[in-house]
Amino acid sequence: MQVRVWRGKADGAFQAFEVPRHASQTVLDAVTHIQRVLDPTLAYRFACRVGMCGSCAMTVNGVPRWTCRTHVDKVVKNDRMELAPLRNLPVIRDLVTDMSGFFDKWAKAKGRFSGSRTRNDDFQKIEPDSSGRIAVDAGIECIGCAVCYSACDVVAARPDYLGPAALNRAWTLVQDERDTRTLERLRAVAGDAGCHSCHTHMSCTERCPKGISPTAGIAGLKRKVSLALLRNTL
Ligand code: SF4
Ligand code: SF4
Ligand code: FES
Repeated sequence: MQVRVWRGKADGAFQAFEVPRHASQTVLDAVTHIQRVLDPTLAYRFACRVGMCGSCAMTVNGVPRWTCRTHVDKVVKNDRMELAPLRNLPVIRDLVTDMSGFFDKWAKAKGRFSGSRTRNDDFQKIEPDSSGRIAVDAGIECIGCAVCYSACDVVAARPDYLGPAALNRAWTLVQDERDTRTLERLRAVAGDAGCHSCHTHMSCTERCPKGISPTAGIAGLKRKVSLALLRNTL
């Protein structure tokens, strides 16, 4: 097949390579073949190869995907494939983007757990069928791949928008009974660049490889923020 790969920075261009097909080949396998056999200067990022680390995401034929779990058979068109870096993130080189802005937004959304117990206390027990636990479980498996962030048109239109992954993280913490910073977190996501900027396009939910619905979490945050405003507690 012919694989066109983005080379250089934002002002770069596509370069074409001929890559042999084989059974069960993933998109990451094709990129690895190019780097190992055809051009060792190609820059790309991966770590686990099994869908856990979130580092291998790229734009494949115009769609953001995790490439280690995407089979070529699923995406190749007329024996051609086009690979580009993720949208909405600065390009460092070739297929590698700068993820710092993406993770800075997790910090802005207060995405860090803050409990009240010390190592000397017993574990806080959360009932498996409690509504908070169910909501947390639905969003907790995020691997930080930025596929949703790259798919979001609101991030493209206003770069300060916190985006689906950071807001999903904030939602899981707001739902976590053990966390002590709910109000602070709601304040952090209530601003102009927070949950109310989401247009509910659902692209993040459609694209998330882990089956998470950031859209649902963001809707939950909107409800929580609105209630807190009505109660004058924010
Ligand atoms: S639902 Fe909201 S966060 Fe998700 S892609 Fe659409 S605008 Fe972005
Ligand atoms: S919510 Fe899904 S798409 Fe977004 S960073 Fe997490 S795992 Fe990736
Ligand atoms: S290489 Fe880790 S998720 Fe793809």
